[in-house]
Amino acid sequence: MDEPIKLFVAVLAREHIDTILDIENVSHRLPWSRANFEGEIETGQANFWVFFIGSAIVAYGGFWNMDGDGNITNITVAEEYRKRKIGSSVLIFLLSEMTRMGLEKASLEVRESNSAAIALYAAAGFTQVGQRTKYYDDGETALIFSKTLAG
Ligand SMILES: CC(C)(COP(=O)(O)OP(=O)(O)OC[C@H]1O[C@@H](n2cnc3c(N)ncnc32)[C@H](O)[C@@H]1OP(=O)(O)O)[C@@H](O)C(=O)NCCC(=O)NCCS
Repeated sequence: MDEPIKLFVAVLAREHIDTILDIENVSHRLPWSRANFEGEIETGQANFWVFFIGSAIVAYGGFWNMDGDGNITNITVAEEYRKRKIGSSVLIFLLSEMTRMGLEKASLEVRESNSAAIALYAAAGFTQVGQRTKYYDDGETALIFSKTLAG
């Protein structure tokens, strides 16, 4: 059996951004910019974390607290580390932080073509509650997923 992966977590800091951008740019059709990540640090809402195996950044993710709704803004796993339950671990971590903060539900938007992410969210108990046609700048529709958090 494979050894369980030991993930370390840190709050996003400026020193992480160069590596994160390398991962972001090959992971998303419309990647976040450096300014987007810096914004996560500068805002008082900074709920954004970086996940390591040893000293290597392998994943990151975060959410905004929107009036009791934890809106997941980004979950990304570096390509060479995918399909090893790291995305699931990041998601579980974000949900537990939301619960700790007393949030009532979690939500997110996902591209309708992103079957990997949709399967990840469905496996974690999210259900589709709506969609936003042409939500993304390239015209793709977003599916809205939501999950009630245990109080
Ligand atoms: C989506 C993403 C975060 C998943 O991370 P991951 O570490 O590979 O996911 P996990 O190994 O934890 O997979 C958990 C479940 O998600 C689903 N899943 C993950 N990758 C999948 C794929 N390529 N195809 C189909 N289902 C997939 C499966 O149900 C999987 O459970 P299983 O392993 O028992 O089959 C990763 O593919 C990624 O970073 N993609 C690019 C960025 C992105 O699209 N982020 C989401 C934006 S909304």
